[in-house]
Amino acid sequence: MKKSQKRKVMYKLKLLIAASEVVPFAKSGGLADVSGALPKALRALGHDVRVVMPRYYIVDREKYGLKRLEGTLGVPMGIMGEAWAGIYEGVIPDSDVPVYFIDHEGFFGRKGLYDEEGEGYGDNDNRFIFFSRSVMQLAKMLRFKPDVIHVNDWHTALIPILLNTTYRNDPDFKHAGTLLSIHNLQHQGKFYKGAMDVLDVGWEHFNANELEEYDGVNFLKGGIVHADAINAVSKKYAQEICTPEFGWGLDTLIKDKAYKLYGILNGVDYDEWSPAVDTLIPRTFDLDDLGGKEVCKLALQKEFDLPQLSDIPIIGLVGRLAEQKGITLLSAAIGKLMELDIQIVLLGAGEKWAEHFFMDVADKYPEKFACYVGYQNDLAHQIEAGSDLFLMPSLFEPCGLNQIYSLRYGTVPIVRATGGLDDTIENYDSESKSGTGFKFYDATPEALIGTVKWAVDTWYQDKTGFEQVRRNAMQKRFDWKEAAQGYEDLYRHIIAGRLSSSE
Ligand code: ADP
Ligand code: GLC
Repeated sequence: MKKSQKRKVMYKLKLLIAASEVVPFAKSGGLADVSGALPKALRALGHDVRVVMPRYYIVDREKYGLKRLEGTLGVPMGIMGEAWAGIYEGVIPDSDVPVYFIDHEGFFGRKGLYDEEGEGYGDNDNRFIFFSRSVMQLAKMLRFKPDVIHVNDWHTALIPILLNTTYRNDPDFKHAGTLLSIHNLQHQGKFYKGAMDVLDVGWEHFNANELEEYDGVNFLKGGIVHADAINAVSKKYAQEICTPEFGWGLDTLIKDKAYKLYGILNGVDYDEWSPAVDTLIPRTFDLDDLGGKEVCKLALQKEFDLPQLSDIPIIGLVGRLAEQKGITLLSAAIGKLMELDIQIVLLGAGEKWAEHFFMDVADKYPEKFACYVGYQNDLAHQIEAGSDLFLMPSLFEPCGLNQIYSLRYGTVPIVRATGGLDDTIENYDSESKSGTGFKFYDATPEALIGTVKWAVDTWYQDKTGFEQVRRNAMQKRFDWKEAAQGYEDLYRHIIAGRLSSSE
């Protein structure tokens, strides 16, 4: 074998990515964007990547051409006995990355992913124990023998402990390592301790150093302890979660595990999120021809019934209406913001009080504030394309994708300097005209209002400055290729660690 060929063979990794949501099949937030895009980027680097997710009711089997694999998968569920899963197989569109869907009518044949009408399903512990166990059983059924199992958030955080206990001596997982990505530390999967009897890894793991927390089970905690490495989707967030302010009670533990904590930043799928190729916006545009942006702006004003004026800045907001996103700050600031010569367009769904609050604001200021309560992907693209500024006043933000999309669309971000928002946006400097956005630090309505005013003043009074920030923003790239290379290095590091510890 020639040297170069040998190197290529050596370099191919077998990676199993488990996630509770994957674009385009099912999505509630950025986790789905990441678990749809990262596998494609890893595949482009030459690796054998497979993805596993639940087959929720909303996953459209026909649209995505999913095929049912023969047979059923036996999934041991402790005191519940054995459960049986059907397996569907498909691919991530525009790729040859296989995706396996775990089908179980009782656990996943429901309207929501995790909840309905804001009410979490009462059996989420069993649902995700089942899913995690299915991932392991599926790997065996496929004889896949992964080098690394990459799990995401609390839903799949039990996999590292399953690997270290139940599957410890299983030859199919002989050298398998695990990576846990934390996309959001707030949600940890905390349940009644009875879940231990279903998980069935042994009650000896129900202790304060592993799965136990205040006499209940904490899935994410187990993952943090048992994974070979942890990735918190930005460098800043990796630092923040070691502090009480952002640690949600796990900061001491995470600080303890800092030796295996990384902060690889998410990338962006520019096939989906680029104004040059976006098929969901009225007119494409790019840095060398911004004419289309003006068309998108007027169309957005029309769509939202706002006066069609090109010289007034539109501030866009898209996101879950959750505390994390700074909705309380925004609601406290809105009165003052409405005194400015601006228009605001908001797209979001989530906390009921916030949905009602922002609909009332729209009634009160019909010329200035418009909102759509719901989830609508094409509108998200149109807001990115048609707005001039994009506001993300998050209290915490592990990575944040919308501000990165905004950069590419020349929609200058106004962000609170936390987590990935701080890492991806450079503050505007009016002297040098450098920077890609406007940042504020304090989580107060005053700081938010002051920074929006600064951005709006720049729009009206420092036009060349504003145009320069827009250009700086549009030139920024956060390619998945680079992020995937970071993951590849980390996977290899994990594998090396596993190999040396088994010697
Ligand atoms: P998070 O994962 O915390 O919700 P991110 O910024 O990482 O935040 O990702 C949010 C993703 O979900 C983006 O792709 C965004 O466009 C999308 N999104 C959020 N809310 C909506 C909505 N109401 N309609 C359409 N897309 C939405
Ligand atoms: C989470 C975070 C968000 C991040 C996304 C993808 O939902 O809230 O900041 O961008 O996951 O990693």
